[in-house]
Amino acid sequence: MHAAHRGPRVVDDWRPDAWRARPAAQQPDWPDPDALAAVVDELRRQPPLVFAGEARALRAALAEVATGRAFLLQAGDCAESFRECTANDIRDKLKVILQMSVVLAYSAGVPTVKLARLAGQFAKPRSSPTETRGGVTLPSFRGEMVNGIEFTAEARRPDPARLLAGYHHAAATLNLLRAFTKGGFADLARVHQWNQEFVAASPEGRRYERLAAEIDRALRFMAACGIDLEAELQLHQVDCFTSHEALLLPYEEALTRQDSLTGDWYDCSAHFLWVGERTRQPDGAHVAFLAGVHNPVGVKLGPDATPAEVLEVCRVLDPDREPGRLTLVARMGAERVGERLPPIIRAVRQAGHPVVWVSDPMHGNTFTHANGYKTRHFDDVMAELRAFFDTCRAEGVWPGGVHVELTGAEVTECLGGADALGADDLEQRYETMCDPRLNARQSLELAFQTAELLAS
Ligand code: PEP
Ligand code: CO
Repeated sequence: MHAAHRGPRVVDDWRPDAWRARPAAQQPDWPDPDALAAVVDELRRQPPLVFAGEARALRAALAEVATGRAFLLQAGDCAESFRECTANDIRDKLKVILQMSVVLAYSAGVPTVKLARLAGQFAKPRSSPTETRGGVTLPSFRGEMVNGIEFTAEARRPDPARLLAGYHHAAATLNLLRAFTKGGFADLARVHQWNQEFVAASPEGRRYERLAAEIDRALRFMAACGIDLEAELQLHQVDCFTSHEALLLPYEEALTRQDSLTGDWYDCSAHFLWVGERTRQPDGAHVAFLAGVHNPVGVKLGPDATPAEVLEVCRVLDPDREPGRLTLVARMGAERVGERLPPIIRAVRQAGHPVVWVSDPMHGNTFTHANGYKTRHFDDVMAELRAFFDTCRAEGVWPGGVHVELTGAEVTECLGGADALGADDLEQRYETMCDPRLNARQSLELAFQTAELLAS
């Protein structure tokens, strides 16, 4: 690269195990280090899940977002579960993502970059390492790649065999995702079929039907103009990239491979990796790991992130100031984003990092209702998104994307939305393994409202 004159580069002698010299937050207490080492050896022998060239394609797409010519939709489960690694669950999640991306692209007139929290989102940071119920204290559930969710000593013991199981579930999920996105399911001619029955019956489902009918008309018009629609691959296939939080560093290390074309290192467990609010320490193991891989990477920023911390993370992760390399995801809460984000945007812009600015309007608006359910209100989610758009525009940067937790099913985990889901409804279908997700109807509604923000 051309930045040697800008000072010493952190990544010059980087190796995939570079993180081991740094403190790593949020790692499970693996009871048997030899068993862990054996699994990591096994993972090292497995084929990569994604290829370097694909990660580069996503980087190029994100560079378009960084310059304001595209919008990022990053969406999926808080924590994927092995049990929901079924054809129907994966298909329904993809349906929502395709619907949302069509709504965004059609209304805003810019391409939507689709990035799923899928095929690897199996590990979770936790606010407490232990959980106590009825006087019994056990390790917290850290995602199915670490331990089981049942509250028994047996299930909660971290088991490295789960890393290998996670790899295989990710491979199966990605295989189906590739088939769906390249094999006809994502064809724009099928835009109506992405509207699931329970969604189609709702006001936002009907609004979607009207939009889909307009797309049909536009396609017929183009055909009438003599454009050979069959030949336009863009109409028949989509790119849906994968992402997860790079939390379990032994797993990420084992899947990090050297690209034969460029000699660069890529974490081939997903196209895009991010570090969470709890693991973004500039001198910590997670940032040291992401510093050396050439994938596009992200950093979550909570309400207490300071401009100095963010600048340091930018220096380590984006030393060459390349558009598409770094995405900063603000998850500050509806009340705080308007106050906390502007000084960060100013500092990053002044330092010349061409980052993608994204809003995660969910994690800063989580609360536990008196009835015991952890939830989020749709109105708070939209309020944070609106404040994010206002802030970006006031600071002169492109509001580049939205990062949400959702599922294709008709769950009742988040309050509000057009159905005015209430606290008493939460118990009906509260199925998440971790944080509350928008259901398919709430997700579509969020897409329409976000599209309005984009077009305004
Ligand atoms: C998440 O995205 O599920 C998550 C844990 O987020 P954060 O790091 O922002 O808390
Ligand atoms: Co979450």
